[in-house]
Amino acid sequence: MIYLTRKIPEPALQYLQERSACRFWEEENIPVPREVLRREVGEAEGLYCMLSDGIDREVMDAAPRLKAISTMAVGFDNIDVEYARQKGIIVTHTPGVLTEATADLAFALLMAAGRRLIEANRAIYRGEWKTWGPLFMAGRDIYGASLGIIGLGRIGLAVARRARGFAMKVYYFSRRRNMELEEKEGITYLPLAELLKSCDYVSLHVPATPETNGMIGPKELAMMKPTAVLVNTARGAVVDEEALYKALKSGTIYAAGLDVFAVEPVDPNHPLLQLPNVVALPHIGSASIETRYKMARLAAEDLLRVLNGEQPRFPVPGGLT
Ligand code: DGY
Repeated sequence: MIYLTRKIPEPALQYLQERSACRFWEEENIPVPREVLRREVGEAEGLYCMLSDGIDREVMDAAPRLKAISTMAVGFDNIDVEYARQKGIIVTHTPGVLTEATADLAFALLMAAGRRLIEANRAIYRGEWKTWGPLFMAGRDIYGASLGIIGLGRIGLAVARRARGFAMKVYYFSRRRNMELEEKEGITYLPLAELLKSCDYVSLHVPATPETNGMIGPKELAMMKPTAVLVNTARGAVVDEEALYKALKSGTIYAAGLDVFAVEPVDPNHPLLQLPNVVALPHIGSASIETRYKMARLAAEDLLRVLNGEQPRFPVPGGLT
């Protein structure tokens, strides 16, 4: 039996149901309660989960028959991969298919925060558009500006490619320098501090790991230009939110575009959400219909592969294959 923590798009669900007994949590907007999850995995050989489900020791210990966990996401920081490895459970994810949709959204956030789109839109509805004004809702240039990508994986690179069309100078910081890619893509490596000091836009594309936790804190924000815009479509934990709030409020940096938060769903009363220079989205980086269909299908296929004793195509790094 496969347990799904959410009803996934119909074609992928049907694909699974034609090949295995399936049970799933039926609510669209409420995550599966922990006690239900623990009970349901008791019989399951496969678990199909979302990035919002914490799949920890407790869940895995309640699942004696579990062979595979497949998450409908590229990020897998919600899963205790090391414990799964110890228990012989294979963990798979959905890299690749969501790269372009997520890069599109990162660029949309960059533009929305830089050019104050949401603030300007609200101004109309509040009756604040009285006349055309030389600096009314004026934001920052995007064309020809500099962009710093932190984390040059698939999505970081896809954002860099979009920036080319805007004649942006693209810099990157990554654990590993890639000279070949620098040459091929016309991008330049900078140490983190240099990138933060010199870029007009900084976009985060690192996974949530103990090393990246709070990577952008008070010290890093203080290095950025007062005209700089920070974009986060990676994971909320990468940014120290209290420090970001102070930096945005005091003018240490200009604006932020945030698709992810340390705690999700973010509290509508969260201080960051009260600032005019924050564009906030509810973790919709990969949320195009076409992309979500592909993610749903990929996660389903790999789950079945493992249950049929085959090698999965997309095991998470560090997991058992
Ligand atoms: C992922 O897949 O990890 C993304 O955050 C979802 O959009």
